[in-house]
Order: sequence, then structure tokens, then C-alpha cells
Amino acid sequence: MSSREVKRIVILTGAGISAESGIPTFRDKGGIWERYRLEEVATPEAFRKNPDLVHEFYNLRQRELLKVFPNAAHHALAELERKYPGGMLIVTQNVDDLHERAGSKNVIHMHGELLKVRCEKCGHIFRTEGEIFTSTVCPACNQKGGLRPHIVWFGEIPFHLEEIYRVLEICDLFVAIGTSGTVYPAAGFVEIARQAGAWCVELNLKPSAVADLFHEQHYGPATRVVPAFVQELLQSQKRKL
Ligand code: APR
Repeated sequence: MSSREVKRIVILTGAGISAESGIPTFRDKGGIWERYRLEEVATPEAFRKNPDLVHEFYNLRQRELLKVFPNAAHHALAELERKYPGGMLIVTQNVDDLHERAGSKNVIHMHGELLKVRCEKCGHIFRTEGEIFTSTVCPACNQKGGLRPHIVWFGEIPFHLEEIYRVLEICDLFVAIGTSGTVYPAAGFVEIARQAGAWCVELNLKPSAVADLFHEQHYGPATRVVPAFVQELLQSQKRKL
């Protein structure tokens, strides 16, 4: 990797980057989808059928998020953004705010954000100040019964895809961190980056479902492999400058 001139970096993160902060992943042992049926809490049909259960699922995850902190992997990416001379974008599948709390500025949440709420009646999107219930009134239109988590559910279209594809098609380095590579369209980003001529790196606890599509892989806990990768990248770019 170090022999390559890198100008634009796209980093895709998944639940694995937040695991060591104490946020459970989805598909590992003890993960979220072992404890909840996604058909009951993470689809538009589930919300229509039982909005109170869906609100409680996201209220619980919000309560958990407020108790945890960014880890060394989040901080390493924030340092890379600060020190890196080229352009850098984090595209995260995560709905936590740990990248932002670590100091990252250029972050796209393609699956939405746990701390945001959307009103289906007036379209208002706002940062939640606490738990949301079907009885909660929208602060913009003062109507009840229209608020939902600002989260992309299964069967819905992820946010900002046009912008994501645009940057993937011009990036020189694509790094996927802590994602199982099982959910599209995110799992297909590596193919777009490869076709654009980018060097593709996977940083994960173990090989993902799309591991073979990457030019370079480093396996281990994100709090070890991400800081190591960032330092190596910064050193190699310093040698170029
Ligand atoms: N360090 C690095 N990687 C880790 C760690 C860790 N400490 N712990 C787990 N991982 C890896 C696992 O090996 C796995 O490959 O993180 C990945 C987590 O995979 P998933 O649980 O499937 O999470 P993710 O890939 O983010 O899921 C994608 O699926 O359910 C939807 O919307 C949800 O955004 C989510 C999407």
C-alpha cells in the first residue's frame, strides 16, 4: 500500500468498529439479531403493526449509546481526517454518533442516526432530546403519532447513495472496517471502488463475506488494527510529501 499516491480516501464502517465501545454488533454471537427478530423491530411493517415495540427497541439502544464512548479506532480515523492532506469521507452503516464524538467531521450515516427523529406528518427531522413514544408531539407541527426513528429499516432505501457512489468512483483508497459484508448496497461498495482503480483494504476481526474482493486485509480487533493502519498510512504519505 505504501508505494501508492493516495489523494481521496473513503472509509466504510460497520458495527464492528463500535463493538469495543460496548455496542453489540448484529450478527456476532450475542448480537442484536440473536435477541430481537428484525421483522418485529426494524421494518416499516413492524412499525405499522406495533409502533410502541419499535419505539422501545430504539429507546433502549439510545439509552445504551448514551452510556458508551468512542474507542481508539474512532479516534484514529478522526486523527487521520485531521492530519491527512487529501480528502477523506467516512460512510458509516452505524447509527451511533461515536465517529462524531471522536471528532470526525466528514461522516455520512447511510442507515440513519439513533439520536435523530423524523415526523412522518410534516417531514421535520430533529435531534432527539430523549425517548420517543407514539404519544410524543412533533415540535414542528405539534401533531402526535407521526414520529419515527430516523433510521433506514429493511426494505427502505439507504440515505445519500448518489453522493456515496460519486465519491467511490473517484477514490484512491477504500477501507472497510468492522462490517460483515452481508448487507447491500454497502457490501457492494468495494466492487465500485476496485473498478475505479482504488486500493481496497479490509480491517476486521475476521474475513467478511466479501474479503476476497480486497487487495489487502488486516485482521484483529479494530482498536488494534485501525490505529496501526492509520499510522502506517500517515507515515507513508509523509514520505511522499
Ligand atoms: N473489531 C473489528 N471487527 C469486529 C469486532 C472488533 N472488535 N467485533 C466484531 N467485528 C466484525 C465482525 O467480525 C463482523 O464482520 O464486525 C462485523 C459486524 O458485522 P454485523 O454484525 O453484520 O454488522 P454490520 O456489518 O455493520 O451490519 C450491516 O446490517 O442489520 C443491518 O443496518 C444494520 O448497519 C447494519 C447492517
